[in-house]
Amino acid sequence: MNYSSYLQLERLLSAQTLESERLNTPAHDEMLFIIIHQTYELWFKQVLFELDAVQTALAEDELDDREIADVARALERVLLIFKTLIGQVDILETMTPLDFLEFRDMLTPASGFQSVQFRLLESRLGLTRAERLSYDGRDYDSRLTEEDRARVREAEAAPSLLDQIQAWLERTPFVAMGDYDFRTAYESALDEALAADASIIETHPHMSEEERKTQLEGLKRSTQLLRALFDADRFEELRADGEWRMSREALQAALFIMLYRDEPAAQTPFRLLSQLMDLDEAMSVWRHRHALMAMRMIGRRVGTGGSSGHEYLSRAAERHRVFTDLFSLVTFLLPGSKRPPLPESIKTAMAYRYAGAAE
Ligand code: HEM
Repeated sequence: MNYSSYLQLERLLSAQTLESERLNTPAHDEMLFIIIHQTYELWFKQVLFELDAVQTALAEDELDDREIADVARALERVLLIFKTLIGQVDILETMTPLDFLEFRDMLTPASGFQSVQFRLLESRLGLTRAERLSYDGRDYDSRLTEEDRARVREAEAAPSLLDQIQAWLERTPFVAMGDYDFRTAYESALDEALAADASIIETHPHMSEEERKTQLEGLKRSTQLLRALFDADRFEELRADGEWRMSREALQAALFIMLYRDEPAAQTPFRLLSQLMDLDEAMSVWRHRHALMAMRMIGRRVGTGGSSGHEYLSRAAERHRVFTDLFSLVTFLLPGSKRPPLPESIKTAMAYRYAGAAE
């Protein structure tokens, strides 16, 4: 065993071929450009590898707390990788637009748009073909090689992380157990909270009439979204309009976990939900950061892949999100003091018990 042979450094370090050198017009910054992209692709590979483990665990019909903790740990790693990927943009930005222009046109029509690992990642998290921005009126994968397209389609056909999280949430006990029904307890507490929110808007001394009207309309819309969580027909209409992605049962369970996150049995699930939100947020930050970097490097020019460049990227950053339901649910959280208390039977069911502790 030897350091270089183990890491196959000979292959790795001879995989940087500068197009500008090949064309006899060497551009110094092309090396950085290649190495940054290769580093991203290596990290994408690691993220997909972690997702393999996460998705294999979540494919089981039953998961105990230890397995959920493993999933949460793997997602934490993925999150930290994404934070590193955001940080790496700083390094690339030491290249000025003038330096980039020295070799940029040589790359056409190649583009990050053809990164199959990035597409796999998006699909495996749960971004569907229907939710994607249309690109030049063609399928987003039309620019991939046939082999890559087959990989993307296979990933699209398999259950995504979003599907698996939904199935896991749907199995949450405690939401309706014995005489207890979270939905009934929560709806009446919510009525009070919404009335309080409306009253704050109606009596706010520093709000113009126009602003008040807008805020009340916003509150009405949020209320309808929430009420639908407890009304099967209305919910399906909103889901068909793309307002919600997960099922009603899954969303109710997520809300329950968020509200009662301090109960021992809800702590690890809450950690997992928080990590999914962190990850969604980190991917969005990366997309926005990449869009800004593209603007800085190429201004309003079209991308080498032929898109509208910055405009396409910032629209994708807004739209290509996966765990938006969890963010929407936050609108409906109640302050701890207004949270309907759990009956003793549920509190006991959610507590940890230590064998032998009484001796
Ligand atoms: C000088 C630096 C960069 C510029 C100017 C740039 C520009 C662009 C543009 C304009 C697009 C839209 C597609 C197109 O028309 O080509 C794009 C897509 C993309 N780029 Fe970059 N990029 C840069 C660096 C990077 C790096 C370092 C990565 C890391 C892997 C990357 C990954 C991607 C990905 C994954 C897409 C597809 C995004 C989507 O469809 O949502 N780019 N890039």
